[in-house]
Amino acid sequence: MFNFIYHNPVRIVFGQHSIARLSDLIDRNKRIMLLYGGGSIHANGVYEQVKNALKAHNVVEFSGIEPNPHYETLMRAVAQAKEAQIDFLLAVGGGSVLDGSKFVAAAVCFTGDDPWDILAKKAKVEKALPLGAVLTLPATGSEMNGNAVITRESSREKLAFGSEQVSPQFSILDPAVTLSLPREQLANGIVDSFVHVIEQYLTYPVNAPLQDRQAEAVLLTLIEQAPAVLNQPDNLDARANLMWCATQALNGLIGCGVPQDWSTHDIGHELTAFYGIAHAPSLALVLPAVLRHQRSAKAEKLVQYGERIWQIHMANRDQAADAAIERTQNFFRSLGMPVSRHSTGITDLHFAAIADRFGRRGVRLGEHQSIGKDEVLQILQLID
Ligand code: NZQ
Ligand code: ZN
Repeated sequence: MFNFIYHNPVRIVFGQHSIARLSDLIDRNKRIMLLYGGGSIHANGVYEQVKNALKAHNVVEFSGIEPNPHYETLMRAVAQAKEAQIDFLLAVGGGSVLDGSKFVAAAVCFTGDDPWDILAKKAKVEKALPLGAVLTLPATGSEMNGNAVITRESSREKLAFGSEQVSPQFSILDPAVTLSLPREQLANGIVDSFVHVIEQYLTYPVNAPLQDRQAEAVLLTLIEQAPAVLNQPDNLDARANLMWCATQALNGLIGCGVPQDWSTHDIGHELTAFYGIAHAPSLALVLPAVLRHQRSAKAEKLVQYGERIWQIHMANRDQAADAAIERTQNFFRSLGMPVSRHSTGITDLHFAAIADRFGRRGVRLGEHQSIGKDEVLQILQLID
């Protein structure tokens, strides 16, 4: 039987025109820092909607948070927030802006020597500034969780931390803001969400049929909606469905009480750190390699996944598992993801260094902790 505590404190405000609700969601007496990225919110009118909603509020701005947000940039926001005595952060953007703002929220209140310890040494986040979000890119699930992934440029490290202290108080999800997303970012969102579900589902059975079916519901909906999301630029319903899928994929619900395997993300983050490849393409490359490497340990769930998601019915379980992996790869290919490392410029130049990092961190990956340094190297070599 499974055990868990599930507590999700994030209020979701979902729907068209919901950005206007900001005026009631944040107290008038707060000194707000509005954090955003490279300017997409200026081009698509989101900035204007936010500023209109906050006309009566006290707002300062910090812009320039880059994709795979940089520690170096965020520390400038920390200094500015301290200087201006900010007491509320409003993140407006994709996962990078949300994650970056979570780090700023924690770092402003950090009393230890160096805020990088939050990431590198898992220093406990005792306190953080309150945070709200307006999500503009459905992908990471950051809008409804307490996780953040931060990159340190100088050392090519991409590390995650998690704390309930940095869960947003609220997140506004207006599917209309996704209309300005390029096709590539929409495909990224589908793949990221898909892989988040897979990592909480494709392990081994623990008699959790509800969690299995919740996970399968998200996978099937993503597969069903993908063509409309990518090919019908005005289809707001499809955007809404993608947005809600992405949130459900990583808000903790489908993972309640079940084993998880985040090795695809952990290895993918290293490909981003070493080769500069974007998050979703890194996952599309690594997942098939992880599944092939772990085929026997994951056999039962791979067969279930193949049957329920891809209608693969084969008597031979190995063949069924292989077919399920191949269908997954074909799905990624149909979305325009790279499925061979050569097309992305990844050579084996840094493979040993990546494997060494896992060795030095002393962490073992996978639902059985069976993936150590040597296995990471084998998985990297299995990437097509
Ligand atoms: O910076 P701006 O100008 O806003 O442009 C962004 C950026 O260039 C643009 N964009 C965002 N919304 C847009 C838009 N362009 C047009 N219209 C819109 N509505 O899209 C580009 C990519 O944005 P980014 O935030 O980097 O993408 P994403 O949401 O995929 O976030 C990726 C980051 O999240 C981390 C990843 O590692 C990566 O650093 N993750 C965070 C997780 C979490 N917090 O739980 C889990 C994930 O697995 C993931 O690791
Ligand atoms: Zn992800």
